[in-house]
Amino acid sequence: MQEEAIKKKLFSAVQPSGAVTIGNYIGAIRNFAQLQDAYDCIYAVADLHAITVRQEASALRRNTLELIALFIACGVDPEKCILFVQSHVPAHCELTWVLNTITYPGELSRMTQFKDKSARHAENVNMGLMDYPVLMASDILLYQAALVPVGADQKQHLELTRDLALRFNNRYGDTFTVPEPYILKESGAKIMSLADPSKKMSKSDENVNAFITMSDDRDTVIRKFKKAVTDSDAEVRFDIENKPGVSNLLTIYHAFTGKSIAEAEKEFAGKGYGDFKLAVGETVADALIPIQAEKARLLKDKDFLNGVMKRGAENAYRIARKTLSKVYRKVGFYSGE
Ligand code: TYM
Repeated sequence: MQEEAIKKKLFSAVQPSGAVTIGNYIGAIRNFAQLQDAYDCIYAVADLHAITVRQEASALRRNTLELIALFIACGVDPEKCILFVQSHVPAHCELTWVLNTITYPGELSRMTQFKDKSARHAENVNMGLMDYPVLMASDILLYQAALVPVGADQKQHLELTRDLALRFNNRYGDTFTVPEPYILKESGAKIMSLADPSKKMSKSDENVNAFITMSDDRDTVIRKFKKAVTDSDAEVRFDIENKPGVSNLLTIYHAFTGKSIAEAEKEFAGKGYGDFKLAVGETVADALIPIQAEKARLLKDKDFLNGVMKRGAENAYRIARKTLSKVYRKVGFYSGE
């Protein structure tokens, strides 16, 4: 009898395109460590995705190393998971080419993220920006991932990934696992801007008070929370429709303390917004300090981080190669054997 059921595969990635926000952390990275015992987890630093908007080469290199360190500092264990840099495994680009041939331009041009980014980077609307979701589908499908933990903003890309997997399977026979998104049920899947709670918290926001980064120091975190936009009544109550700012702060508080929203509401009943914002700010700042310290420690050991990436890329390639060979065979590429 089999002692242990084979674990399902899980894949996710984060772009090394500058600061990582507490939105990325709550919606995605925090869950990576929590899922690593139940699943066979594969996590990547998506540098191929990052160059779809302009990056300074030296900053991209630095951010890649920092993101590997941050994953580990947030609890991702390189002994349990495969942790690697996307560009180290060429199969991602190779599968993208094949999937491009079953993807229609209309499917890509209607993607919300493409439309948003095209508007924001009007001077650099490139084919990579449009093809971004096909590369993302390749990331996931190469590893036959059953589950993909992401924030709510990636749902549309996940739907396209499923469509492409099914389309390929229908055309060429069963090849890919059709993945399911793993998106947090509560509002943690979409942390909102502190300056405008109708917008997603994003590292590319022009207003630095709109987001908290994982490397913001204690004073900065507290100052930004003090400035957070709330509303004109004074009740700490979760109500996304009418009190989006307060609801967002409650969600962040819940994510960092583990207290339920109802418990948090009770804790702040009768207290003013000033006390509430200070408490959320202090909680987040205190939670970030050990992560920042661990990240700084890891960054001093570049050999260790390089080793993790190298081992990760080798292990990732071993899995990716199998899928890619299968795909090449199915589409009819002559193997020379
Ligand atoms: P990126 O780097 O933009 O975002 C990384 C993760 O953070 C989530 N996220 C949020 N979650 C909650 N609230 C927010 N305000 C918030 N902002 C961002 C994103 O949903 C994401 O999960 N395209 C991916 C990177 C990627 C990927 C993949 C993900 C490349 N290949 C394959 C999964 C599977 C992205 O948006 O990265």
